[in-house]
Amino acid sequence: TLTTALLTLTAYLIGSVPFAVVVSKAFGLNDPRNYGSGNPGATNVLRSGNKAAAALTLVGDAAKGLIAVWVMRQFGSDAPSAVALAGIAAFIGHIFPVFLGFKGGKGVATAVGVLGAFSGWLALASALTWLIIAITTRYSSLAALVAAIAAPAFAHVLLNSPAMTAACLVMAAMLLWRHADNIKRLLAGTESRIGKKKSDGP
Ligand code: G3P
Repeated sequence: TLTTALLTLTAYLIGSVPFAVVVSKAFGLNDPRNYGSGNPGATNVLRSGNKAAAALTLVGDAAKGLIAVWVMRQFGSDAPSAVALAGIAAFIGHIFPVFLGFKGGKGVATAVGVLGAFSGWLALASALTWLIIAITTRYSSLAALVAAIAAPAFAHVLLNSPAMTAACLVMAAMLLWRHADNIKRLLAGTESRIGKKKSDGP
């Protein structure tokens, strides 16, 4: 319907709000696109050394996924296909934000928000997967890659919704693609670990 289409566009616009850039500006920090990995995301904002700014970026980018889906459910439809569409739209907004010339982040935090909108247990299972890998390896990217691969499987088990499981698969595939450089660095042993500045080396 037209309402679903308009709310999908709204979800895209919500997803487009680049919290890494907005929060960094508010904190008087450098633009995260100009240091570290250059990625406008929480992991890279943490490389500025400002943990509060990184946490706020994480919460803001995740909230986009939650809010975009909430708006669809509230003002449009709570049909699984509409909900899945809003989630993917928010995720795509984060990766290709209209407000940053379509050059956005990698989608990890926003995906967690979308998963949370689908199901709290799904977000929890995926976030715990991320946390376990992040704590044991200190690689944010590796944690995201493993969680992204696990999420569609979790969705298949926890949700009774082919549309939402398919949305998880789409997000996982895009997330892997967005981490191509991280994967190369992981294989080369040059990926930077959480809490270390680029200049410290891996
Ligand atoms: O959230 C993105 C994360 O998985 C990797 O970020 O800055 O190390 O490329 P970054």
